Amino acid sequence: MINHKNKENPIVKTEKLVRLNKFLSDHGITSRRKADELIQKGFVKVNGRIVTELGTKVKPNDKISVSGKTVSTEKKFIYIILNKPKDYITTTDDEFDRKTVLDIVKTHDRIFPVGRLDRNTTGLLLLTNDGEMTFRLTHPKYKVEKVYSAGLDRELKFSDAKKLSEGVELDDGITAPCQLLVDPKNKTHIILTLYEGKNHEVKRMFEALGYQVKKLERKMFAGLDINGLKRGEYRKLTKNEINSLKKMTGLV
Ligand code: URA
Repeated sequence: MINHKNKENPIVKTEKLVRLNKFLSDHGITSRRKADELIQKGFVKVNGRIVTELGTKVKPNDKISVSGKTVSTEKKFIYIILNKPKDYITTTDDEFDRKTVLDIVKTHDRIFPVGRLDRNTTGLLLLTNDGEMTFRLTHPKYKVEKVYSAGLDRELKFSDAKKLSEGVELDDGITAPCQLLVDPKNKTHIILTLYEGKNHEVKRMFEALGYQVKKLERKMFAGLDINGLKRGEYRKLTKNEINSLKKMTGLV
């Protein structure tokens, strides 16, 4: 890039600036949203100075530290899938000291869940320290596929299944079209495929039509499944699985 203001040396390469929250998520510290919280709380220093302003931009060679620990600029990402049991929450720390999914997954890396599952929802949860991947997998633009198995308090009427598949009105907008399969032998058992991720979406969709979700399990997420993992078990993703997530989110 040419900097015309520099008279002595008219051709100056400017270093690419990046937002501090993106820098932290790109280097595996936490998600962008959590990074903003850390910045606002004064945990983050840039070249030795505390920075609390959101939107601060940094250069690749700036020295960034979080709670006194320097952020390594060597990228090392890990990706784990967990078959989440009931009674574990998906935030990284809990003010009420409830059990979190990070009590199950033993790793020295600072990983965080990709999206959320309710405390009583079981099934597939992806965890990683790759902030950009997390951002993309949870962004509505990428329409990442999620498959749930839901158990209702009563049989689902055909007309309601149709309404749900076309979209129902919730207080934060109409849900995107989705697919439903009703088990012909047990019409309280529904397989639901969604392409967006509003908070408590499945429960709220059914509640909008007067049904209660008694049981909820996520079977698939972004083409990954939990086959072979018992509740509470987890494993690292294979190279092929990581590559397919990267392709899906435009990271390769
Ligand atoms: N929808 C819900 O209602 N709960 C979940 O945990 C996931 C999706």
